[in-house]
Amino acid sequence: MIASMLRFLTSGESHGPQLTVVIEGLPAGLEISEDDLRRDLARRQGGHGRGGRQKIETDVARIVSGVRGGYTLGSPVTLVLENKDHVNWTGQMTASKEGFEPKVVTRLRPGHADLAGALKYGHTDIRNVLERSSARETATRVAAGGVARKMLSHFGIDVVSFTQSIGKIDIGFEGCDPDILTEDDVERSPVRCPDPEASIQMVAAIDEAAEQGDTLGGTFRVIARGVPPGLGSYVHWDRKLDGRLAQAVLSINAVKGVEFGAGFLGAGRRGSDFHDEIDYQEGRFRHLTNRAGGLTGGVTNGEPIDLRVAIKPISTMKKPMRSIDLNTKEKTEAHYERSDVCVVPAAGVIGESVVALTIADALLEKFGGDSMVELERNYRSFVESIAQ
Ligand SMILES: Cc1cc2nc3c(=O)[nH]c(=O)nc-3n(C[C@H](O)[C@H](O)[C@H](O)COP(=O)(O)O)c2cc1C
Repeated sequence: MIASMLRFLTSGESHGPQLTVVIEGLPAGLEISEDDLRRDLARRQGGHGRGGRQKIETDVARIVSGVRGGYTLGSPVTLVLENKDHVNWTGQMTASKEGFEPKVVTRLRPGHADLAGALKYGHTDIRNVLERSSARETATRVAAGGVARKMLSHFGIDVVSFTQSIGKIDIGFEGCDPDILTEDDVERSPVRCPDPEASIQMVAAIDEAAEQGDTLGGTFRVIARGVPPGLGSYVHWDRKLDGRLAQAVLSINAVKGVEFGAGFLGAGRRGSDFHDEIDYQEGRFRHLTNRAGGLTGGVTNGEPIDLRVAIKPISTMKKPMRSIDLNTKEKTEAHYERSDVCVVPAAGVIGESVVALTIADALLEKFGGDSMVELERNYRSFVESIAQ
């Protein structure tokens, strides 16, 4: 696989003392503060259908390395997120002669990493799996994504997302024009859907599922605007940016599918009704439509990157599914603990973050630069050269 220009490594368990992310490869001279990261972290915790944990803590990412006087140094940037819920961890413990020991979880939960993880690592307590397989980890990727997003803003690139469907309520691919979409259109909706009427129906669908002890999934779209042509490459499979974006998005918990542009719907069309015709306007190449989703041959083509992601219904349900006890092998009902009912709105924010990180990596690969000044100079020079 190609070596990334922008690498990051996350660590931490859901109820451990903290989560950590180390980001390596950022140029020096990027202005960044903890405040820059706050809004995305809050958006990840929001959305109608979230469970109790989000009320316990408001995530803050503390910058503990790689930044001095408000600017990156070029050295690894480390962000730390305290798990405020950690103090309640003792609530998951039982008293023993030695003091407190964690309550053992043995009733396998369908749809979770429980069974696969226990078999793989030889665990007899499912908590040893769920503590890391939990989506709590995505808070670190949202924090890191905030740094990437700050860097991209210097190049006029912004990454937005919105909920397209929850359960059976779907505004459709044509239900929103991403070119004119504003942040306010999305964030004023409790489910991050720009269609007010559909938002009301989505909230009702979530409430109905919750009352019945059930859960819902859906789809969200991520759009990156202002992306220059030429990021990624067709010359080798692992350089293709659509493949790299798909991997980033599929690694988000509960994601079951991704499509670019017209995607699966487009597969049913004729070529003449699919491909984006090419034009030249005001000194730049344009496409008359964007059914390819901004990428051709794994390379950005100057149109917005446009992808859609499918989220499965949440696995933990008050109305538990049939299962087996990991250790006794007896029939039982799945373990239940505090859980979300629908996370599509939050997952969209995580989608934005991993897309921003992947584009930032591709931007650094194309334009290089150890400092922001150098990176901006290289970027400008390329953009000017293709505008002639
Ligand atoms: C933001 C977010 C929050 C989540 N919260 C829960 C939850 O409260 N309960 C649950 O059962 N699954 C939750 N999930 C999904 C599980 O983490 C996920 O389904 C599980 O780890 C298995 O991984 P997989 O679905 O990717 O195969 C959440 C996912 C995301 C993106």
